Formats: sequence, structure tokens, C-alpha cells
Amino acid sequence: MDEKIKTLEEKLALARLGGGEKRITAQHNKKKLTARERILYLLDNGSFEEIGALVTHRTKDFGMENQKFYGDGVVTGYGTIDSRLVYVFAQDFTVFGGSLSETHAEKICKIMDMAVNVGAPLIGLNDSGGARIQEGVRSLGGYADIFYRNVQSSGVIPQISAIMGPCAGGAVYSPAMTDFTLMVEETSYMFVTGPNVVKTVTNEEVTSEELGGASAHSTKSGVAHVTSINDVACLDDVKRLLSYLPQNHLEKTKPLDYTIEEEVRDELDNILPSNSNQPYDMHQVINGIIDKDSFFEIHKNYAENIIVGFARLGGKSIGIVANQPMFLAGVLGVKSSKKAARFVRFCDCFNIPLLVLEDVPGFLPGTDQEWEGIIVHGAKLLYAFSEATVPRVTVITRKAYGGAYDVMNSKHIGADMNFAWPSAEIAVMGAKGAAEIIFKRDIKAAKDPEAMWKQKEAEYAELFANPYSAAERGFIDEVILPKDTRRKLLKAFSMLEDKKVDGPKRKHGNIPL
Ligand code: HXC
Repeated sequence: MDEKIKTLEEKLALARLGGGEKRITAQHNKKKLTARERILYLLDNGSFEEIGALVTHRTKDFGMENQKFYGDGVVTGYGTIDSRLVYVFAQDFTVFGGSLSETHAEKICKIMDMAVNVGAPLIGLNDSGGARIQEGVRSLGGYADIFYRNVQSSGVIPQISAIMGPCAGGAVYSPAMTDFTLMVEETSYMFVTGPNVVKTVTNEEVTSEELGGASAHSTKSGVAHVTSINDVACLDDVKRLLSYLPQNHLEKTKPLDYTIEEEVRDELDNILPSNSNQPYDMHQVINGIIDKDSFFEIHKNYAENIIVGFARLGGKSIGIVANQPMFLAGVLGVKSSKKAARFVRFCDCFNIPLLVLEDVPGFLPGTDQEWEGIIVHGAKLLYAFSEATVPRVTVITRKAYGGAYDVMNSKHIGADMNFAWPSAEIAVMGAKGAAEIIFKRDIKAAKDPEAMWKQKEAEYAELFANPYSAAERGFIDEVILPKDTRRKLLKAFSMLEDKKVDGPKRKHGNIPL
């Protein structure tokens, strides 16, 4: 028996070594942790149980039969984070650059199936050169097996992808179908084809970082939801993100302990500038409302005219969508609509109530936006809110103009409670533009057209640049003092806690993709 135990120990020791000491050192020299180090840091101490440590590939071409590494380039298994069960895979760059073979894919699929059957989140730590080139179509098949499972698991369990090295080809499509993609700055890249292929096909010279680094994907493409300065920070962000999410679509996020006390926040009365065309930072409003230091922003540097992220209110997880007057006056555009729509749909999948903070002058006009398809992209956000059945509450802090009023979680599209601050302006358009259109003839005929315009603007503003006509019709449930916002929201979300809505019977809706 001793001999047999020794054999097992030797095999497991080899498995733990991955591609060997030399390649591990190379990984460390690039300021990257190894696959195992990442898993051990991510999971609760001593909780990791590995599955498939002794799997090897089955390829015989290109001398591959002589190059076998236990685990075949991916460490898979389960463990806990803050005592919650999660399934995890970490690609091992020290083995064939973490490339995906048929058996590597089988290992990932095995834990994906378990995660969905048990109902626990799946976390992928990606560090892979894509399809294992020596395996040809078997590797492509392996990718498709994973993609299929990503889709079948979507909306059933949360799926989180951390990109922690160069990820090329097939290695980027599975993350793209998961709920959140986090990237490590400087050491991770994502591209369908790398700089060499780009140069050959388009003659464009571009570095890996410019093409698909964390900065490109967090500011230009929106592929990355969160970026972190190094591996450890990225794994911390995964843990933090997970803390706002439930285990699966049938559960709610476990609340943190919180004792409700005097919840009036006087500072909220002093955020809005006296001139309604002056910007202010909506983060101040968010932080004034939520539990202290609880905001976890998603897509922080992408489409900054809208803010989305998770927070806690009275210890409970909520999703926030808020216009940001600091950028483009908070207008809705192509990117901001897509960003917010995706977030709304995620929250709705996983029973996370939605809070909307609204200060929006309308949709962004111009050929750029029209030709980029603002009609269809704006419709995504309208659709996402309209189909969401989680508790939905809106607070209009200032502007709610035009179609954007309808889109931003209005009562008409199913919001449950709609509050407005006394500073709210709810109208078809701004008073100046409105006066110009409807009093065109009076202005033209006046002795002093400028004075007449000003007078008509004031009349329009008096009538509509306030929350009261909307409140008179019941489109606004209550006009509230800013300092009372948190108290009102705590009560509203608590009242809505057991909301249940059955959507229409159908196969699935057809969101304008
Ligand atoms: C097999 C691979 C590999 C791959 C890397 N390696 N990628 N082995 N298949 N796809 C191996 C290398 O041979 C090397 O082995 C080790 O991994 C480390 O690679 P390096 O090139 O030395 O590392 P680095 O300089 O850091 O560059 C990393 C990289 C580069 C950017 C990922 O290796 C690269 O460009 N690889 C190819 C990417 C690619 O085109 N993949 C196929 C995509 S097609 P040794 O033995 O020296 O350690 C695809 C189709 C799926 O994925 C589509 C589905 C929709």
C-alpha cells in the first residue's frame, strides 16, 4: 500500500507543478500568480476541492504524446467564498499557454454542469492562448461545448470571468457570454485576433495593450466591466462583486446585518446647484442614499453619462442606474443605453431590486448617434426596464425630459414607486426650446422678440418645469424632500420585498439586439 500511496503522491505533486518550475518563474516574473495561487487566494482557506487533477490530453499529433502535463492546463473544482459554495476553473498558462484542448474543455464543462445543477455561481479565471493549435477541430468543439453551457446557464446562476493574462481567439467568447468580465491592468489582453494578424490583414500597427488591454476594453469597447491593478486586486473584486449576488435565480442575495436608525440625510438637500443647467456629481446623491461605502461601480470608465452599480440599502443588495449630469449633461446615448440595459437585465435575472436616479435632458441628438442606431439601442433600455419584474423605484432629482422620461423607469413602463424631488422638471423638452416652437408666431410678431421669448419660456417653465403636473396625474407617487430620500426608499423597497409578477406566456421576448 505504501508504494501505491507514494505513486499517488508523486502524481499529485506533478499536477501541482503544472508546466514546471521554469514556466512558473516566468509567470511570476510577469507579475502574475499561477492558476493554483489564484484559486487559493480567491477561496476561503482550506475550502478548495480539486476535480480532475490527473486528466491529460489525448493528442498524438506533433509529438504531443511525449508532452503530457497532469491537469492539462486548467485547474477545476469547487470551494467557498465567504462560506458560499462556488465552482471555479483557472487556466494554467504554464501548460501550453493555457490553451484549450478537448480534455481541458471537458474539465470546464464538468464543473459548469455541476454549478447549474446545484445552483451555485461559476467563476472562470482565464489565462489562455485560445484553441490548442495541435488539436484542430477537437479544440473548436470543446469551445462550442463551453459556449453552449454559458448560454444554458445564463440567468440561472451568476457567471463571472476574470481575464488574468493574454486571452485570444475562443478564449474571449466564453467570457463575453458570462455576466461580468474583469480584467487585470497591464497583464491581460482580450482579442479575437492579435496584433500580428491585424497587421497582416489591415496593415494597421497596434500593440496588444492598445488593441485589447484593460484600458481599451474598459473605456472604448465596454467588454470589461471592472479593471483591477493586479491579480490580487482582481480576485478581491471578484469576491466583492459576488457579495451582491445571490447563488442562483431562485434565491435573493443574503442581506448583511443592519439596524435601521434615524435615516434622514441632511447633506442631500445641498447637492443640487441653484442653476438647473449646472452639473453636479450624481455619485454624491448615490453615496448620500446608500449604506456607507457600499457602492460597487460597474463599467466605471465606459459611457460615463450613466452610472450603474451595486449597493446596499439597509444591508440589502440593490442595483442602481443613475444619469450623470457631469458627463454630456447625463443624456442617453448609444453606449449608455446599452450599458444600462445590460445591467437592468442582470439585476432582473437575479432578483436584485432596481433604484433609478434620474436627471436626464433627453437623448443625444446628431448624425453620429442616429447612424450608430440610437433608435434601436435606446429601445434596448426601454425594453429592459419594461420587462423587469423586480421591485423598481425611481427618484427624479432634476430633469426628466422627453422620451428619456418614459425610458428611465417611468410608472408607465412598470415602475412600482416613483418619487420626485421638488427640483424635478418633468416635461416634453426644456422651457427655452419649447417656447421657441409653440410661441413661434407670438415671438416673431412681438416688438421685442427676445423679451417675448423669455416671457414665454418663463410661462412654460412655471407650468411644466416642476414635478406637480406629473404628481397631479399620479405619474409621480410622492414629491419628497431630498433629505428624506433614504428613509422613503428603505420603506418602499421593504414594502415591495415580496413583489411577484408573472410575465405573459410566450417562448421569449425579442429584445431589439
Ligand atoms: C498551443 C500554445 C498556444 C495555443 C500559446 N501556446 N498559445 N500552444 N496552442 N493556442 C504555447 C506556446 O507554444 C508556448 O509554449 C507557451 O504556450 C507560451 O506561449 P508564448 O507565445 O511563449 O507566450 P507569450 O509570448 O506570452 O504569448 C502569449 C500569446 C501567444 C499572446 C497567447 O502565445 C499567442 O499569440 N498564441 C496564439 C494565439 C492564437 O492565435 N490562438 C488560436 C486562436 S483561434 P512553450 O512550450 O514554449 O512554453 C481560436 C479559435 C476558437 O481560439 C474560435 C471559437 C469562436
